[in-house]
Amino acid sequence: MIVDESVVVREMEEILDRARGAGLRLPASVVFANGAFSCLGRYVASATASGPILVVGGRFVRDRQRRLSLEEQFCRHDVPSIHYVEVRGEPTCESVQAGVTLARRVRPHTVVGIGGGSSLDTAKAIAALLTNSGTIDEYLEGGERTRQLECAPAPQFAIPTTGGTGSEMTRNAVIGIPARKLKRSLRDDRLMPTMALVDPDLTMSAPANVTLASGLDALTQLIEVCISKFARPETTEACLKALRHVRWALPRAIMEPTNRPARSAMSMAASVSGLGLANAGLGMAHGIASALGAVRPLPHGWICGVLLPHVLRVNRDAAEQPLARVLAAFLGEDEPKPGVVDRGLEELDRWYAALDVPADLSSLGLTDAEIEEIAVGSMGNSMRGNPVVMTPREVARFLQRLCRKAP
Ligand SMILES: [Fe+2]
Repeated sequence: MIVDESVVVREMEEILDRARGAGLRLPASVVFANGAFSCLGRYVASATASGPILVVGGRFVRDRQRRLSLEEQFCRHDVPSIHYVEVRGEPTCESVQAGVTLARRVRPHTVVGIGGGSSLDTAKAIAALLTNSGTIDEYLEGGERTRQLECAPAPQFAIPTTGGTGSEMTRNAVIGIPARKLKRSLRDDRLMPTMALVDPDLTMSAPANVTLASGLDALTQLIEVCISKFARPETTEACLKALRHVRWALPRAIMEPTNRPARSAMSMAASVSGLGLANAGLGMAHGIASALGAVRPLPHGWICGVLLPHVLRVNRDAAEQPLARVLAAFLGEDEPKPGVVDRGLEELDRWYAALDVPADLSSLGLTDAEIEEIAVGSMGNSMRGNPVVMTPREVARFLQRLCRKAP
């Protein structure tokens, strides 16, 4: 199934219309269109009052040419000053706090996040701490949280440049605490971006390894949303629709980076997966990925992707029907037919091999102590949605199997 990008845009519009009709959480405004980035200045000027702007981003912000075109856009709309926070790697309390210090000094009216999930999450956290006192660690979920956001975050725009995390459609930001080998979420309904501006053309410059890892994140999110204990008919329908594109679009986006239909389909997959996770739940792959990512500095999407086929096999009996629908959609079949789960899992394995995705975690060399630590750390919010109830001991056994080198 290969489609024109206009088909993808139309499908996305239908998904957003239905999501709004069903009362799902989503940004006040979502623009999904090829070339939409050229209108950013106008969108910012019309959605917020005039004032300085803080741009938070990674590769995009380091690219002089792109910075200049951004500044031209904002100048045309009388933005008095633009400030930048450069993001390198996944956000930590320390990196967020450095951005907050700058933001509190320059007092931007609007925060614009441009990049992958790390940039968008950093932008959300800065927007929240710009209007609330204290430090980021005080607001993170988990046993240590001591404060809730009192004031709404500053207006924030989310502009993804990878087809991955779907952070532009969610109300949380994932922040690492490296010293404690933890990742925690800052979560609040008001953290949902004021506007998600999704221009699939922006993802064309993403390197192949980033496209693969972020695509695997979107795939895992779409699937976990559908089989989660907290799945809702509206989120499942949306995710199944997006899932039908991933098998053809991800390999094509990697092999032909400027392929517009493929990039558009993966941008849709990512945004819809974000819509899904903001309104339903995730599962075991994300539970473990959060803890494993805090122990080893690996791309979140890569970890999720490697875990996914194994997680589906653990859950196949407990989530037989949703899994059949998910795998039928992955295969591009209209209805789940007998044997679809076996066929779908076999095809997923073949597809992974063609994309060079490892079949297990044996290359990581995790020690028994690290596995225990990851197993305990994986019992967070995502794990609550997993169809099979997993104890830390069961997760540790699952990880030990994946870490054992094949004879
Ligand atoms: Fe994810």
